[in-house]
Amino acid sequence: MRLSINQRSARVGIVQIHEMFRVLELDAGDVAEPKQSHAPSLSRDTFVFPQTSIRAVEKDLAIVVPCMNEDPDILDGVLRGIPNDCLVILVSNRNLANFEVESKMLELICTTNERKCIHIHQKDPGVAEAFMSAGLSALVEPQDGAHSVRSGKGEAMMIGTALAKVAHRCFIGFVDADNLVPGAVNEYCKVYAAGLHYALYQTGTEDPHAMVRIKWNSKPKVRDGKIVFEKFGRSSRATNYWMNRLLTTLTTASADIDTDTDIDIDHNLDFASDTGEHAMTLDLALTVPFASGYAVEPHQYVHCFSTLSKGERPVQILQIETRNPHVHDCGKGDGHIKRMQAGGLSTIYHSPLAPKELKAEMRGFCKSQLGEVCSVDGEPEECVVYPCLQDMDWEVFKKVLEEKVEAVKSL
Ligand code: GDP
Ligand code: CO
Repeated sequence: MRLSINQRSARVGIVQIHEMFRVLELDAGDVAEPKQSHAPSLSRDTFVFPQTSIRAVEKDLAIVVPCMNEDPDILDGVLRGIPNDCLVILVSNRNLANFEVESKMLELICTTNERKCIHIHQKDPGVAEAFMSAGLSALVEPQDGAHSVRSGKGEAMMIGTALAKVAHRCFIGFVDADNLVPGAVNEYCKVYAAGLHYALYQTGTEDPHAMVRIKWNSKPKVRDGKIVFEKFGRSSRATNYWMNRLLTTLTTASADIDTDTDIDIDHNLDFASDTGEHAMTLDLALTVPFASGYAVEPHQYVHCFSTLSKGERPVQILQIETRNPHVHDCGKGDGHIKRMQAGGLSTIYHSPLAPKELKAEMRGFCKSQLGEVCSVDGEPEECVVYPCLQDMDWEVFKKVLEEKVEAVKSL
């Protein structure tokens, strides 16, 4: 893979956010074996990542696929797009009959493709018991006399992250189950591997946390019988706009902003805040709290630069634009888009770094655009944020999980 790299970046405290990188070639051919093991080769503003560098990360990468009643044929394509070396963790929240269908499908993929996958049901009482016993009962609710993990995408991602830790993986990436293009899924995983590699070994930072965020090239829609390759989804447009406003207002730090935060943003960078697809070092995923439902990604992003402080490990955040179009099920309705927007905006609005004036402007926007999902004065509801996974008792979690959950016995 060849990426264009960009030397421009913004720094907020210990977090460095790099300006957009782009995929220049999906397959950059054979490159001379680098002298330093796994080091990518450098040519001006591009990096070529040898297969060995990508593989080295993939072998340590768990890909979590949250899935809520998606078409099994589409899910099948998603699973087949994930590189063989990655551990697949499918966290499904659907009725038991369909769960069986998914299970059979996954089993077939594992056998014929000789690979490793874990399939877990979000409502498995054993999973809920493991979280409760380990001290994370906030994630759990009573159900039919027993307990289960709450519904939501963020909640599914937490289960996946916890399982990746139990399976001793160092990196974690997320891929949606409704992606219609297996080639795009494959590209995301390769980009995760290349990006994590770059962030860890090429930024000159010692032992950083790393996050790689995918910016889709386009989201195609059918309009008047023609395919239109739109550059922004409806939800991303608003969230990205306000995220950029937050980050750029930080340069003209007002009295509202914690002046201890050391900020260095010298130009108007383009930040991809609202992406479903992202990857991290597992340590970071255990440190950064997950928000409920669809607020999870923007919340993790905002949390990184508004809450992490001096003395913690530095964080490198890369944003990478992919080549494949992002084609997914976009028939989930207007209400879905609005709820998602409100979740994203809520994380920006309630960030400790958001200045008063920006909040007032955001209330105006929410009142006019998102009336149904905001309070009367336009304030987006604060989302539920769970305690971070790091603080769980991992010994207890593993023990209960191994006793109660069939799917993890082979780990
Ligand atoms: P969008 O693509 O951002 O519009 O959001 P989607 O509705 O497509 O959701 C993203 C992914 O999360 C899809 O794979 C969904 O099936 C999955 N998802 C959404 N809600 C839940 C949930 O409660 N549990 C699980 N396990 N997956 C979910
Ligand atoms: Co989707």
